[in-house]
Amino acid sequence: MEFLNFTHDQSAADLVAAVYPTQPLAYIHSYGCQQNVSDGERIKGVLIDIGFGLCDSPENADLVLFNTCAVREHAEQRVLGNVGALKPLKEKKPGMIIGLCGCMANQQQVVDKIRKSYPYVDLVFGVDGIDTLPALLAQKLQQKKRILMDPAQRPVIVEQMPVCRDSKFRAWLPIMYGCDNFCTYCIVPYVRGREKSRRSADILAEFKQLVAAGYKEITLLGQNVNSYGKGLDENIDFSDLLNLLCAVPGDYQIRFMTSHPKDASRKLIDTIAAQPHLCKHLHLPVQCGSNRVLQEMNRRYTVEQYLELVEYARQRVPGITFSSDIIVGFPGETEEDFQGTIDLVKKVGYMQLFTFIYSKRTGTKAAEMEDPTPRKEKTDRMQRLLNVQEKIAMELIHRQVGQTVRVLVEGFGRAEGNLVGRLDNNLTVEFAADESLIGSYANVKLTDSRATVLLGELDQ
Ligand code: 5AD
Ligand code: SF4
Repeated sequence: MEFLNFTHDQSAADLVAAVYPTQPLAYIHSYGCQQNVSDGERIKGVLIDIGFGLCDSPENADLVLFNTCAVREHAEQRVLGNVGALKPLKEKKPGMIIGLCGCMANQQQVVDKIRKSYPYVDLVFGVDGIDTLPALLAQKLQQKKRILMDPAQRPVIVEQMPVCRDSKFRAWLPIMYGCDNFCTYCIVPYVRGREKSRRSADILAEFKQLVAAGYKEITLLGQNVNSYGKGLDENIDFSDLLNLLCAVPGDYQIRFMTSHPKDASRKLIDTIAAQPHLCKHLHLPVQCGSNRVLQEMNRRYTVEQYLELVEYARQRVPGITFSSDIIVGFPGETEEDFQGTIDLVKKVGYMQLFTFIYSKRTGTKAAEMEDPTPRKEKTDRMQRLLNVQEKIAMELIHRQVGQTVRVLVEGFGRAEGNLVGRLDNNLTVEFAADESLIGSYANVKLTDSRATVLLGELDQ
């Protein structure tokens, strides 16, 4: 692995200043997971570094960039639909540059399709190409031809990239990139490449900057944070990294995602128990509650091992909550397999579930598997799962009522005059308060719950 420092591209900045009579504007739309949103913040930073401003609609933009997600087919179709919708605008404004980057751009068949069927897309680059964006744009502005990069994975980590963060109090902090797990349904290892960890000193330096800048919640990101440290010259694992960060003085909290159950260790749970800066919530995607299907998915844990880990966490960290991702309708999933998922969901009692109907991804192992279950049966299973989960969440949320808790105030609530705060355990509460509280901590008494929403009162 090579570590590079980002360098400012003055010649690209000079060219941008020469080509555009007034400051050019960029519209960046990021789809998909937090990792992608975090990449989007770096893309914005890199563009600002060469003189761009930002805008929030394609109509005003000189550069429109779709930072795409490839995890499910639906996400890909949405992006292509949005790209297609820009065609009339491009005809009116031929100088506008339309670009596509992110996970879709790391699939050869997508790049080929763009080359052939989307002639008004001028720029394509993959997830490892953010630092090269100034040079690619300069090339585009000079040569006036399409710059479509074929997918390539670079064994490189680029540090000190400029970042334009969307929030002033919640920050994403990537600690590693890529994934080595090859779950059989998942495209991520193919598009984001092999796992690579940032050096702990680089993470710590960025973390300290965030705390000094007043960030209250810092979320560490990686496809599989629990395997942090593999391949580094230093001897460090994820729990060690958490301890290193928690030693930084300040009033902040740390979240992290995503934890793979096969690598989430007792040491990690003990660390959560010991460190007040760490939120009492674990996103622990189980995917399915059938050992047979888990094996077909190549998840490398059993339902029993998963439940043991949950039980250990419950004992060591009182009040801890869990959330999970679940795939319904994996190829060959039977009604009995699905019942296993329902049982497991009931046993764990998740506060939140992210549920997905299996989506076939070209190039993955599962795409080769027989999938005889009709779509209707899969949507029916999904609905049954959602019904079960809703009851569980309502009960769990209602059980919180009566406590007074510290929340991070995130923004406006649904009702006029209400704000939303997030509890340490990742539940949210609505309460009446002045908007000046947004971005700070407040104590809130939890007074009631409506369906899956907690209601509260500011505790002065
Ligand atoms: N089909 C459906 N869901 C998927 N996920 C990943 N790949 C697929 C797929 N092919 C889900 C998993 C993962 C989450 C980010 O997306 O549940 O944890
Ligand atoms: Fe995909 Fe599995 Fe890696 Fe998650 S752990 S990104 S589901 S391959």
